Amino acid sequence: MTSTLCQSVTDLARAWNVIARLHRYSDYPDSTCTASQSSKMNKPMQNAIDIVTFYDEHPINLAEILSRAKADGLNPDQLTARDLWKWDQDHYGGLEAVDALADALAIGTNTKVIDLCSGMGGPARYLATTRGCAVHGVDLNQSRVDGASELTDRVGLSDRVTFSQADICALPMDDAGFDCAISQEAFLHIENREALLAQCRRVLKPGGKLGFTDWIAGPGLSDEHKLRFANTFAASRIVSTSEYRNLLPNADFEIDEMIDLSGQWREILVERLEMFRSLERDTVARFGQQRHDTYISNYEFFVERIANGHLGGARVVATAC
Ligand SMILES: C[S@@+](CC[C@H](N)C(=O)[O-])C[C@H]1O[C@@H](n2cnc3c(N)ncnc32)[C@H](O)[C@@H]1O
Repeated sequence: MTSTLCQSVTDLARAWNVIARLHRYSDYPDSTCTASQSSKMNKPMQNAIDIVTFYDEHPINLAEILSRAKADGLNPDQLTARDLWKWDQDHYGGLEAVDALADALAIGTNTKVIDLCSGMGGPARYLATTRGCAVHGVDLNQSRVDGASELTDRVGLSDRVTFSQADICALPMDDAGFDCAISQEAFLHIENREALLAQCRRVLKPGGKLGFTDWIAGPGLSDEHKLRFANTFAASRIVSTSEYRNLLPNADFEIDEMIDLSGQWREILVERLEMFRSLERDTVARFGQQRHDTYISNYEFFVERIANGHLGGARVVATAC
């Protein structure tokens, strides 16, 4: 009797979750937002996806990474960091992109690194393995922090690679505790870029380095495009390189380099779209068909904007004054 009751409650809860999810996705503005709507609203719409849900339901997640490893014939209880590199990097350009940042920041054995918006922890584990440094990753999303910690534990790196949950606009770390701060494809989610850069400056030692890659607004990126990205990718603010040229010195950073990655991203993102398409079966099993379809159609829109130059990318390196 008790177990039947529990089953009914579980079924009811599951059904409610499905209804809630369908309702949420059906409310996502697609490409239908009109110019007049966007001029009235430069903010995400009420039913826009929030940042935590976006990453809780991301096609790259702990279960996916472990099931890919298993499918490759690996034992999930005997993994090395290297075993995961194919799947645990949630940015564009994979390990080469992490190396480019690490070289620009001269990360070595004794460098104390903070990874801002560390996701599943792939870049942190890669840096600790290849450069011998200690890395602390911070992410807003508890499921990313838990997933990153579990993977790090499984590959035996927990003594040098750690994670905690926090908003990077309000870091709970002491002043001047790190030599380097890195971040990849995450600042686009942060509306208050001024507060974020102030936090970066605060946790870095004077002379410390900030290196990040980010979406960059091209000349043709309209308010309507921005609104759609805010609603569908939780991309709260997409800035241009000239805005970064003001924002960084205002936060007490001197810019070392700003490299345009738009050309490279054009090709990489077409491949990444194919990769997400190939995850359909797993994404549908975990989050439903609608989540997969919505994700793919939004990603197609993103790849189109990159292809026609409305959106691009850059690698930025700056020194804390
Ligand atoms: C595209 S993922 C990048 C993950 C990682 N950098 C990598 O390259 O694999 C962006 C990450 O930013 C995190 N994030 C977004 N807003 C944040 C905030 N305000 N504070 C901390 N993390 C945030 C998300 O939870 C997500 O894990």
